[in-house]
Amino acid sequence: MLAPPPVLLSADRIAGRVTELAGQISRDYAGVDDLLLVGVLRGAFIFLADLSRRLTVPCSVDFIAVSRYEHGSTATADVRSIMDLRVPIAGRHVLLVEDIVDSGGTLDYLTRTLRARNPASLRICALTRKPQRAPAGLRIDYLGFDIPDQWVVGYGLDYGNQLRTLPYIGMLDPAVTQRSVSGATASGADGGDARLRMVGAER
Ligand code: IMP
Ligand code: MG
Repeated sequence: MLAPPPVLLSADRIAGRVTELAGQISRDYAGVDDLLLVGVLRGAFIFLADLSRRLTVPCSVDFIAVSRYEHGSTATADVRSIMDLRVPIAGRHVLLVEDIVDSGGTLDYLTRTLRARNPASLRICALTRKPQRAPAGLRIDYLGFDIPDQWVVGYGLDYGNQLRTLPYIGMLDPAVTQRSVSGATASGADGGDARLRMVGAER
C-alpha cells in the first residue's frame, strides 16, 4: 500500500473550484432541460458525483470507459474503448467530464467518437490539466486547475488503481513511479498496466 502523498490541491480548494465550475455550467446551460453528463471511467467518478450535485440545471448521467496505452504520444490509436454509453446522444447536449488531461490523446479520441454521433453540442469539463503536456490547441470549455507535469493521485485519480479515494489531490514522489517503471507490477488502472502508463508519463 502506498503512503498518502503531499497535498497539491486540498479538499477545500477542490470543493470551492467544483462549486465555481458548477455555477458557470449551470449559467451556460440555463434553459437546456436535457443536459447529459458523460463521465470518463474510472478517474472522473468522484468529480462527476460532486459536480453533478451542484448543478442547478436538470441533467442525466452516463459513463464511458477507455483504456490508454501510453508511449508518450498523443496517437488516438493508443486509446481503446472498454465500455460505451448506454444512451444515444444524437441531438442531445453533452458535457464530457474528465479527471485529468495529460497528453490529450484520450480527449481527442473521445471527442472524435462522440462528435461522430451528432450531438446537439459537445463540451469538455476537466478537473485538471498538465499544460506542459497537453496540446496548446486542445480546447477545454471548463477547467478546474492547471497542475505541474507530475503524477497526481486522489479525488478519483489513481496510481495502479490505488489512492483514488484520497479526499485531496496529492503529488506522487517520482521515485515511486520510477520504481514501478523498473519492474513493479501495479496494474488495473484506467490506462491498463500502470507500468506502461508510467513509461509514457515519465518520458
Ligand atoms: P491523456 O490521454 O494522456 O490525456 O491521459 C488521460 C488519462 O490518463 C486520464 O484520464 C487518466 O486516466 C490518466 N492520467 C494521466 N495523468 C495522470 C495522473 O497524473 N494521475 C492519474 N491518472 C493520470
Ligand atoms: Mg480520465
